[in-house]
Amino acid sequence: MKIDVLTLFPEMIERAMDYSIPRRAQEKGLVEIKTHNLREFAVDQRGTVDDTPYGGGPGMILRVDVADHAFENIDPDHKAHRIMLTPDGIEFNQDKAKEYSKKDNLIFLCGRYEGFDARIDEFVDEKVSIGKYVLSGGELPALVIMDSVIRLITGVLGNEESLKSETFEENTTDYPQYTRPAEYEGLEVPNVLQNGDHQKIKQWRDSFRRKTD
Ligand code: 6GU
Repeated sequence: MKIDVLTLFPEMIERAMDYSIPRRAQEKGLVEIKTHNLREFAVDQRGTVDDTPYGGGPGMILRVDVADHAFENIDPDHKAHRIMLTPDGIEFNQDKAKEYSKKDNLIFLCGRYEGFDARIDEFVDEKVSIGKYVLSGGELPALVIMDSVIRLITGVLGNEESLKSETFEENTTDYPQYTRPAEYEGLEVPNVLQNGDHQKIKQWRDSFRRKTD
């Protein structure tokens, strides 16, 4: 999978994707992440990407011509799935992550400022939010989505790790887990987990399962 990220802060994306599973996915060649600084697509020499809102109001708005030039440049035939990160978008969830993990090319458009020119809607496939709160820009939401999508790409997780993700695939909650020591300041690991009766252990674990949707 190729992931392109349009942002004013490419290093924020690159640095965060340089750890753990996303890093390993890139090293294995299963994911290619490319950042593009929106300033490269400015329409003037000074690299202007935003302007004041028509009708007045606070803050600056990302320009439609800048966004269009960026898409024209990196995805001229509109083959990629283009996602705008905005608090007004539909809320991201695990089903969306599964859907995205099957795409060949995703493009994330991250804004800063007070928002996007509404005409940019015409150039994207989807507007997505990660929850009901306001962040300073689209970079953290893009990273959250990228992390959840990358771990679903075939071959990214090893066998042991993919077993662990099964509960999320089934939309059920996980059971409590413990490791050594067996007792810590009077807090004990349940006996059933220490007796090696795998049928009993399964029953105990299943008793914690609740549907999450
Ligand atoms: Cl996608 N963007 C911003 N700025 N804030 C958010 C968000 C996105 N999702 C939740 N809060």
